[in-house]
Amino acid sequence: MTSNDNSDGDSTISNKGRQSASTSSTWDNKSLVGLLEKTTSRAMSTLSSTINTDFTKDFDTTKDSDVTTKDPTVQNVMDAAIIRSSSILDKDNDVNSNDIEPREQQSKHKKQHQDKRTYLGNPSVTPTALAHSLWRSTILPSDTVIDATCGNGKDCLALSRMLFPDSINADTEEDIADDDDTKASKPQLIGIDIQPRAIQNTRQSLLSSLSSDIYYNHISILEQSHEHLMDVPRDKSSVGLVCYNLGYLPGGVTDNYKECQTQTETTLNSITEASLLLRVGGLLSIMTYPGSNLEESIVVEHFIEGLAMLTTRGQDGWRGYLESIPNYNDDNGRVRMLVTHALERVVAEGMKKQTWRSFSHKPLGRPLSPVLVTVMRIK
Ligand SMILES: C[S@@+](CC[C@H](N)C(=O)[O-])C[C@H]1O[C@@H](n2cnc3c(N)ncnc32)[C@H](O)[C@@H]1O
Repeated sequence: MTSNDNSDGDSTISNKGRQSASTSSTWDNKSLVGLLEKTTSRAMSTLSSTINTDFTKDFDTTKDSDVTTKDPTVQNVMDAAIIRSSSILDKDNDVNSNDIEPREQQSKHKKQHQDKRTYLGNPSVTPTALAHSLWRSTILPSDTVIDATCGNGKDCLALSRMLFPDSINADTEEDIADDDDTKASKPQLIGIDIQPRAIQNTRQSLLSSLSSDIYYNHISILEQSHEHLMDVPRDKSSVGLVCYNLGYLPGGVTDNYKECQTQTETTLNSITEASLLLRVGGLLSIMTYPGSNLEESIVVEHFIEGLAMLTTRGQDGWRGYLESIPNYNDDNGRVRMLVTHALERVVAEGMKKQTWRSFSHKPLGRPLSPVLVTVMRIK
């Protein structure tokens, strides 16, 4: 039924209903209107709660000029109810406002609407989604991947889905049987965290999601500091990605849960060693938190920019870049000194012609939000 059905001025109430309204002397138009207002109001609030949205304000007849300016006839009340119900569905389901749809279609449209709200998983909106998208386009099936701050294991789980796409909950005999191809390429996921609670959470999360073959043969979750990354035992496959989500583990139960926050110097040492491990085409990905550790995020950014400056054609080369690092808050050149030592080590121990491309993904207008810093070795 559409509002056009009523354009001839005749009522759309059934004949039976019309007769009973006109034959009963106690049911004058005013009281019938009142009754219908109440009934449709109840119906609308039931409808709005069914579709999980509070549209009761929209159905407040005292505020809606569409209704109060029309003659209070039965016809108008019905029209108003039709228009309102269409617009409620329209708002929630984004469908043609003239159609009242069957329940299955309503729920299909509701799903579509919810899907639109998954923008939080969109790489152009959150740095985590952006990081995951960059990881996905970097990792090769034979890579070793290191999550150097595995925390509750969310990133590790995302990485395991990229590295072992067929293994999720696929604990079948074929999975458990030796697979020569998989073994030959030896992909490996290493998760590291300094906190026992983090290690436990990550192990639990991966165990419940991966086949036991993958979990026991290709995953290592290590409780230790990431500072000396080169000493971490690993298979011979090349390192395609090392990622960090700096800061502290959220959801701590004690007041001092921030004690396990990452620290400027250990982080810098770790990312220096990570850069020495990466294959050509490999990515170093670091989520920094200027809001909780400004010095650490500044140092990380300078070091990563310094890698890109190793091949600068500028007159003073990468040394010139280091000299241009300012003093931060009268730190007596501490940031410059730390970054200089780290970069000198990369030059001394790394490949001669190593070449890097660096990016800092800062959300504009949100200076304290997490910043994703990445660098890829392209030579
Ligand atoms: C923001 S959380 C990581 C969240 C994690 N990526 C996830 O997906 O749940 C930062 C983690 O770094 C860990 N951490 C701090 N210092 C560390 C260190 N020196 N070595 C390894 N992990 C460290 C903390 O224990 C904490 O779990």
